[in-house]
Amino acid sequence: MHRGKKRTPNDPCSFLSELEKSFELTREHLEEIILEFHHEMKRGLSGKESSLKMLPAFIDRACGKEEGKFMALDLGGTNFRVLQVDLSGDGKARKEHEEKYVIPKAIMHGTGVKLFDFIAQSIKQFIIYNNIGLENKINLGFTFSFPMKQSNISTGILINWTKGFTAKGVIGADVAKLLTTALKKHRLGNIEVAALANDTVGTLAAKSYEDHDCDMGIIFGTGTNACYREKISNIKKLKSSSEKGYMLINTEWGNFNKIRMTKYDVILDEATNNPGEQRMEKMISGMYLGEIARLILEEMIEDKCLFAKGKAKFSKGDFKTEHMSLIESDDSDKLLKIAEYLEGIGISDTSFEEREILKRVCGIVSKRAARISAAAISAIVTWMDPHLEHKHTIAIDGMLYEKYPHFRQLVAATLKEIHKDASEKINLTRAKDGSGIGVAVVAAVAALYRQ
Ligand code: GLC
Repeated sequence: MHRGKKRTPNDPCSFLSELEKSFELTREHLEEIILEFHHEMKRGLSGKESSLKMLPAFIDRACGKEEGKFMALDLGGTNFRVLQVDLSGDGKARKEHEEKYVIPKAIMHGTGVKLFDFIAQSIKQFIIYNNIGLENKINLGFTFSFPMKQSNISTGILINWTKGFTAKGVIGADVAKLLTTALKKHRLGNIEVAALANDTVGTLAAKSYEDHDCDMGIIFGTGTNACYREKISNIKKLKSSSEKGYMLINTEWGNFNKIRMTKYDVILDEATNNPGEQRMEKMISGMYLGEIARLILEEMIEDKCLFAKGKAKFSKGDFKTEHMSLIESDDSDKLLKIAEYLEGIGISDTSFEEREILKRVCGIVSKRAARISAAAISAIVTWMDPHLEHKHTIAIDGMLYEKYPHFRQLVAATLKEIHKDASEKINLTRAKDGSGIGVAVVAAVAALYRQ
């Protein structure tokens, strides 16, 4: 843990330069992260204690010929979604219907039975609203974006909750079974859970449906995680590890814990409902970046380094990653967008220097997130292909990647810093809605296996 030295109060310059130092990740730090990552991947694949769970997904990527109509569920963020997806068998996927349902806080933190009842009720609404007949069997793909232990494509046991979920009675249970029970209870017995997949697996599957070089899927959203394509013979913990072929592995990289923490990371971690877990996620993803920046701003205000004139206060939960995004997107000469935002929350008459400080703090936090992300990407790609001899398409989904100013560019620039020209082999692409469409592709791949 990095603790700052004694500082003169009232001195934003020295505060910021110390802050920069504690968040800095040099090329050497990145190389260390990559080495540690490889170490943890190896341990995770052989079933040893590791911060990387390396969970086999019991599916490989798509070939593009998969077809059929599927219902898809997406659970893993603040919204729950139901979709109807049509795969035409020529690499094209079409969303026929899509509805979003906000998960009430009481449900997220209530019981598993209530959570799955809520899911079944939402599906019922979806079916009625979109006039979907229930006479024939409906194949359903379920994107369940939490760490789960699978032993085949249609079952999965929740290992632990992440991203603030705490619903009781689900850890250790098969989520497909919980869903099937809830569906039957709500007279939706014709719906059969054909596939269960993590959102990263869905993202890879969806991209590979149209691009056969895709061998990695990533989410940079509320949480962060990645999956990639592994040789079955390398998955030593699998009974079938003597088999030929490939299988997707959900790394659950959000839990990687070999990156030095600042005092802000420690404070943030201790206040979550899963302290000690998801350490890398807590440095990168949308659920946490705003809170890291808020902790820094609060300290600056206390030290009279910022907004010393007024009574500014950022309370827990008030400063979100969306606000950082807005602040960092202000490229106007006088930073007036920032001024407007501050006025909106009751901090008026700010100076240009103060607005600049705010922007700089956000920049320090988001830059570290992007550099860690690049190191993690590099670790997985070089695990698959140590000398970067082949092209790798990486499918990426999530608001942070899509919307956060400069995040994408910083990830790409850091990969270039690590790999020089060879970084051209790493093709970062945006994958829209892997967690919606992707699980339909996964269900279709599974159906092809069964044939
Ligand atoms: C969290 C979950 C993981 C998911 C990621 C992105 O890290 O544990 O399963 O893929 O968020 O949604």
